[in-house]
Amino acid sequence: MVTRRSVLGATVAAASATLLTGTALTPLLSARNRADPRTLPAAPAGLAAGPLLPPFSVPMPRQRELRPMLRWGNRDIYLMTIRKATAEIFPGRSTDVLTYDGHFPGPVIRARSGRTVVVHQRNTLDMPVAVHLHGANVAPEHDGSPMDTFGPGTARTYVYPNRQSHAALWFHDHAHHMESEHVYRGLSGNYLLTDKLEAALPLPRGEFEVPITLRDARFDETGQLAYAMADPGRTTILANGRPAPFFQVAARKYRFRLLNGANSRFFALRLSDGSTMTQIGSDGGLLERPVNVPSIVLTPGERADVVIDFSRYPVGTQLVLENTLGPGSPDLVGKVLRFDVVRTAADPSSVPEVLRTLPAAADLPAPVVTRDITMQMDEDGRAQPRGFMNGQLYDPERIDITAAHGTSEIWNVTNTNTRIPHNFHMHLVQFRVLERGGKPVGPTEAGLKDTVRVMAGETVKLHVTFNTYRGDYVYHCHMLDHSAMGMMATFRIR
Ligand code: C2O
Ligand code: CU
Repeated sequence: MVTRRSVLGATVAAASATLLTGTALTPLLSARNRADPRTLPAAPAGLAAGPLLPPFSVPMPRQRELRPMLRWGNRDIYLMTIRKATAEIFPGRSTDVLTYDGHFPGPVIRARSGRTVVVHQRNTLDMPVAVHLHGANVAPEHDGSPMDTFGPGTARTYVYPNRQSHAALWFHDHAHHMESEHVYRGLSGNYLLTDKLEAALPLPRGEFEVPITLRDARFDETGQLAYAMADPGRTTILANGRPAPFFQVAARKYRFRLLNGANSRFFALRLSDGSTMTQIGSDGGLLERPVNVPSIVLTPGERADVVIDFSRYPVGTQLVLENTLGPGSPDLVGKVLRFDVVRTAADPSSVPEVLRTLPAAADLPAPVVTRDITMQMDEDGRAQPRGFMNGQLYDPERIDITAAHGTSEIWNVTNTNTRIPHNFHMHLVQFRVLERGGKPVGPTEAGLKDTVRVMAGETVKLHVTFNTYRGDYVYHCHMLDHSAMGMMATFRIR
């Protein structure tokens, strides 16, 4: 492709390289686990990757797309039951999972800007739940915020007006103190919002547009999910709910809608032949232009919209999507999935040079307030580390930030830990990441974002605008183990 974009690719490569070196892997381990092996969770060693199931033994399933139960005027109505189910993650074994309507991985809802989606959720678990639509612009009473739960045997109707442009949204449990384990056990799904602009582009579609949710897990020797807070032993990598699966593709372009659905794991993804992938979108939809990248870093909750053109490979080629970040050794966590090029196919799709336009940083509404936000977690090796936003544990009774409706602000978010990485997610708002460490971010982070990585010692400068709903929403670290430790706070728009 054009030279300019190759240059951008090189910049991204350089930026990622610092993340990928051996020494950079170490900081990704939680300090407490490195400091004292006795604090490692007692869960059994597990199936891990190797002997019981060699990589690429099972096919990667596609996520189930739901049809609305009813289309009524401008509304698509879905009925879902939150329930226990079993999934065949390992061949011949049945694993207990928590699901939206029985699906593991979770189902996909397809929505369109301007059409309302109504989801009636029935809770048949023995725990309260809250369903949060991550990245969505919704009224506070439909946001599924941590304290706004509904209990066993009850139901809740969420209304999503979709008054925002196309975006790669996802939904997951958010019940306070339980979100981490609930999401780990399966409560997440994709919600792909499209609009006229996106739908008009000649991108790969239909069977060639494939949502892939990546995550990790620890399994015990019976194939059951083992959960412990901040467990570094989650070293089985799942792609669409299967351990290091293979996926058969035609020798043409595919669009992969990647979601990091892990609780805490960061992924750095690359192709085994060292060739580039074309990133076309992030959390809040398309980038302005496609970017060729040798590697994609995805922190929990982040999405990447990626086109891979398999027409450059002869039929018979096997290409591995690799992960270069720990915790876990490369033989355990290094293989994510294998693409097997098995046939040729016509390809009418293309990736336009210009995907959308977004206001340049200088043209964004002038901020009226600048705030400093710090994220920090105990890293002194204590058994029950706490997480803090601006030095405080999450208290749902406390309003941490009050912003004026109709204004924009600058949020400087700093990770003040010396080793532990975090990321930062806020509800309601798709923000712009202006800078990291005082320098403009690369093109893959320059679109609309709702989740952004903040490595130890780093500061990201965000431009946020509050011009839609009023009310209370949370912001937090999306390493869900960390938010469950208290790294969450509330902003009020009034
Ligand atoms: Cu996916 Cu409060 O987050
Ligand atoms: Cu964190």
